[in-house]
Amino acid sequence: MAVSVLPQKKQALEMNPVERLMAATAADMARVNDLILQRAQSHVDMVPELARYLIDSGGKRLRPMLTVAAALLFGGGKGHAINFAAAVEFMHNATLLHDDVVDESDMRRGKPAARMVWGNKASILVGDFLLGQAFMMMVETGDIAALGVLSAASAVMAEGEVFQLAKTGDLETSAEDYAEVIRAKTAILFEAACKVGAMSGGADEAGCEALALYGLELGNAFQLVDDALDYGGESGALGKNVGDDLREGKMTLPVILALQAASESERSLIAAALGNEDASDLEVHQVVAIFNRYDTLRRTLDKAQDHASAAIAALASLPDSEMKTILAEVVDHSVGRAS
Ligand code: IPE
Ligand code: IPE
Ligand code: MG
Ligand code: MG
Repeated sequence: MAVSVLPQKKQALEMNPVERLMAATAADMARVNDLILQRAQSHVDMVPELARYLIDSGGKRLRPMLTVAAALLFGGGKGHAINFAAAVEFMHNATLLHDDVVDESDMRRGKPAARMVWGNKASILVGDFLLGQAFMMMVETGDIAALGVLSAASAVMAEGEVFQLAKTGDLETSAEDYAEVIRAKTAILFEAACKVGAMSGGADEAGCEALALYGLELGNAFQLVDDALDYGGESGALGKNVGDDLREGKMTLPVILALQAASESERSLIAAALGNEDASDLEVHQVVAIFNRYDTLRRTLDKAQDHASAAIAALASLPDSEMKTILAEVVDHSVGRAS
């Protein structure tokens, strides 16, 4: 016995926190994945073709894993977490299909975005199909309270995308506006994913609130890191596609903080590149040099770290368990990807 257990334990120690989360949720996630494939079916061929293209292209499945993990943390409940997890991933994938149209993005999950293969119209419509299927899976659980959480999240996410659109290229955008955008477009779904997981796992009110706060803060940290990475992370090292947000006129924290500190000439330089699709790599480079002067990528990552600490603190009142440890470590791992 000792001989066979030892290598397994060693393996577990070598896994990173997300791999440990995958291992801890593997049985339930196999059911979630089956459900995802089943509910992507349609007699209209283009629907499963496009949906499967995105689904099979290997997203991290972080949100549905959080739903399942949150349920397991409280004992698993009646198994409704499977439906909620699949619904959460469908909501996320619908958002990505729509988001790539809005952002005119060419790539998603390392492949040409669905809109580059089937076009914008099909991407919007299949996104709507996935949202509809998500709501059907939620309704099947009969859990009106959890349905309320996810419906509200769906509305707030769309609102967040519209708010961000309204702020595009607006040099007066504040850090508070940005905080509202990322809360709405990203953090709310993490919050809802964790909260409905806890609810379906049988958590009491305090447990549900703890998981909701954990998800919200993890989501905030996640988007802040993503926005720093768009400029190459802390180092601001230029690589492929660096500066997409700048060329799109997206008012993320690195640019907002730089505009607040910049001199008149630096401000003009940033303004000229912001929202300018044809901005050269040199112009992007010059803007990143201004970011480095005012340390705005580091400050963005510090902000992500504050949210990460808040996410971990949200779990403090819960009884210690293996799953709790994994959830806490997943936070540092997600934030650590840019430092
Ligand atoms: C992408 O989310 C959208 C953001 C909130 C930045 P993920 O990075 O979780 O996307 P996938 O599902 O793994 O592709
Ligand atoms: C991702 O937002 C989609 C939502 C969270 C609505 P972004 O537009 O900032 O992220 P990427 O870079 O396309 O994944
Ligand atoms: Mg986008
Ligand atoms: Mg976007």
